[in-house]
Order: sequence, then C-alpha cells, then structure tokens
Amino acid sequence: MKYQIPKGLFDILPYAKESFKEVGKWQYLESIIKKLAIDYNFEEIRVPIFEKTELFLRGVGGTSDIASKELYTFLDKAKRSMSLRPEGTASVMRAFIENNLSQEKKIHKLYYMGPMFRYDRPQKGRYRQHHQLGIEVIGDKSFEIDAEVIDMLMTLFNRLELPNLKLLINSIGDLDTRANYKKALLDFLKPNFENLSEDSKARFDKNPMRILDSKDERDKKILKDAPSILDFLSDGAKKHFENLLNILDKLDIKYEVDSKLVRGLDYYDDTVFEVVSDKLGAQNSLGGGGRYNSLLKSLGGPDLSGIGFACGLERILQTMIEAEVYFPEKTGPFLYIIPIGKDAKDFSIKLAKDLRHHKISVDIDLNAKKIQKSLGLANKLNAKNALILADDEMQKKRASFKNLEKREQQEIKFEDLKNFIKDKFYKL
Ligand code: HAM
Repeated sequence: MKYQIPKGLFDILPYAKESFKEVGKWQYLESIIKKLAIDYNFEEIRVPIFEKTELFLRGVGGTSDIASKELYTFLDKAKRSMSLRPEGTASVMRAFIENNLSQEKKIHKLYYMGPMFRYDRPQKGRYRQHHQLGIEVIGDKSFEIDAEVIDMLMTLFNRLELPNLKLLINSIGDLDTRANYKKALLDFLKPNFENLSEDSKARFDKNPMRILDSKDERDKKILKDAPSILDFLSDGAKKHFENLLNILDKLDIKYEVDSKLVRGLDYYDDTVFEVVSDKLGAQNSLGGGGRYNSLLKSLGGPDLSGIGFACGLERILQTMIEAEVYFPEKTGPFLYIIPIGKDAKDFSIKLAKDLRHHKISVDIDLNAKKIQKSLGLANKLNAKNALILADDEMQKKRASFKNLEKREQQEIKFEDLKNFIKDKFYKL
C-alpha cells in the first residue's frame, strides 16, 4: 500500500528547489518575522491547534464560511466536539481571558505563527492546512494603533521586497451602522435577486454584506451601483476612519479605499484592511485584518477592543518566488571530512566529535571512496571547507584542507589540525 498525503496538504522539505515547499525559505521568512516582532515590540503567544468547537462558532461567527462550512470538527473519546483552529484570533482571545492577561498591563501586543485548518476546495494559494503569522493588539482603541498595525504589515512586505502590492482599506462601522446598511443593501439587491449568482442568493438572508466581495462577474456588475457603507458610518466611526487615513498619508503608506471590502469573519467593527498581490490569481489576499470592539466581551472577557491581522505564509513565499526576490543561500556544514580507508575514518570520527564539542558544524562522508565524488557531495551540501584524509595524508600525518569557496588547498600537520580549524571557524 502506498500512503499519500491528504488532499490540500503539503510537506515542507529540506530540498525542493524553486518551490515554496523548501524549508530554507520558511526559515528565512520566519527569521524576518521574528525580527519584525522585536522591532514593533510584540510578544509571542502560542495557543493549541484545536479547541472546543463552540469557541470558533462563537468567536469567528456562525454566519462566516470559515466557521459554518470549513471547520475540521471531530468528537474526542469523551464525545466532546473539538475543531482544528481555522484562524488564531478566537484562540488568542480565549487564552487572554482564561489566563487573566488583562491584569498584567493595559496594552497587549501579541503575535503567533503556525498552522491553520480550513476545509475548502484546494487550489493554488488555498490549502486545507496553511500557515499564518498573526498579530493582535488588545486594549487600545486609538486610530494611531490601527495605523501602527497596518504599518507593521506593510513593513513586513517591504522587508521581503514584495513588489506590486495593494493595500485596500475600509470602515464597516459599528453594529448600528451595519444594521442600517444591510437594510439599504437588501433594498438595492431585491429587484436584482434573480440575476445574482447562486452563492450570493444563499448569502442574501444569512450574510448579505458578504455579497459585496463576490468574485462573480454578474454580481460585480450589479454591485457597481450598490450603496456605500461609508455613507452610513456614525460620526465617531467616520472620524476614526478619516484620522486613520490621515496618519497613513503622513506615514507615506499608499492605500486604496474600497467600500466593498468586508472580510470573511464576523467579529470586525470599524477598520478593515487587506493586502492583495497581482501575482496570485484568484487567491490574491496576502494578508488582512481589522478592528474588533466586542469580541472579547462576547467571549466572556473584559470590555476591551482589539485590532490585528494575519497573513498567509504560503502565499507570501509564492509571491516572493514569482517576483524572484532575494532568498539567502542555503548554509551547509563548516567542514566536510572525506576519509578514505579505515584508519582515516577512525581518525575523522574522533576529530568530528572534538570539533562539534566546540560547536563547529561538521559532517563526514562515511562512505567516501573517491575524493572527487565526495568533493562533489560537499559542494552539493554547500559545505564551506573540505578535509581530505586519504592514504597519502595518513602516511605523512598531514591532512589536506580545502576552502571550497576560494578553491584553495593547504596541508596541515595532524598536531596543528584542531587549532587550525578552530581558528578558521572563529574568524568567520
Ligand atoms: P483571514 O483573512 O481569514 O484572516 O486569513 C488571513 C490570511 O491567511 C489570508 O489573507 C491568506 O493569506 C491566508 N489564508 C487564509 N486561508 C487560507 C488557505 N485556505 N490557504 C492558504 N492561505 C490562506 C484571519 O484569519 C483573521 N484571524 C485575521 C485577523 C487577526 N483579524 C484580526 N486579527
């Protein structure tokens, strides 16, 4: 029997050139993210990958596709309903409340990275297990913090040198705003109901605002003249949005106000935003987020508001590859030892142990037979140096040390070998 990975999942491999599945690319991206978190003073939070199902139904929202159709749900042995997390915000809020983090300080800046699970039809950029960087700021309602969060997302993309991105931004106001707007939208759509796509018809009663981000061409045509939610904002929400746009201008962050941007989760109020790439096709959202003013309270926590975003690491890596931006070279061992014969092998094993004790990365070709072939392997591994120990060297008690980058070779006496290698390593 041949086992295959389930549909919509993928392995991240040590070697997978030109593909986002190569682990070195993930490690590079993760290193950039960790530095970004430090620069913006965010602390890491790690939450479990599954929770009680009701958390997601309540937190993400029963009318969202993510909670109503895409959850990976199972009964545990005690017949309790559990679900793999489809996103991070609900779990972070649960952890924040359960661990009384609000006692620690006033404003919390948290980030997380890890796999998320959504049962959707897989396609390029859409997986059943995908990975996110997410951030959440809890306890600050100001428009300045909205700007800082958006700036952080754009800075990440700048540091990765991603070209041709567009920041879309909108305000969906508070509950009253949306209730009034929904009414106006339904009045507008009613005469066109029969011409809407099947998906949009299904959303008409359940979640009409989601019709706004339909990708269907017929829907788009109808929606062209739809009322704009920006005309329904309360004075407070309007001021918040204007102030935010103002500060983004001052920070020289380019954006496009898109009054049809609503996002696919139920918890948002006021600011919502998304960054899209022209390199990704249908699944073009690299990241998105928004403000949530009542989520914590609705989950039984303190009356604090939050704002955050999440971005998809697969989509970021795919965009980086397609835009041919910089990825660092894979680093191999500092030294690759090539012993030919039993005595040389014994000597190498002892030497490798000593050098590793000094935290120098070393590998040995335990099957070495032909020097040229082993040197080829050393190059493939991206080793910096090779140490050749064949019959000749063993007899003369001198090893041949080869710098593989500069292609220079020199002979080193056995008694000087350890110090010589240590010297070279620490001078790096
Ligand atoms: P989201 O827009 O559902 O937001 O997901 C964030 C990002 O995850 C998307 O922009 C996309 O890049 C990536 N993504 C989502 N689903 C998939 C998938 N099936 N395959 C590959 N990538 C995917 C959230 O999850 C919110 N929790 C963001 C947030 C945090 N809002 C406030 N705080």
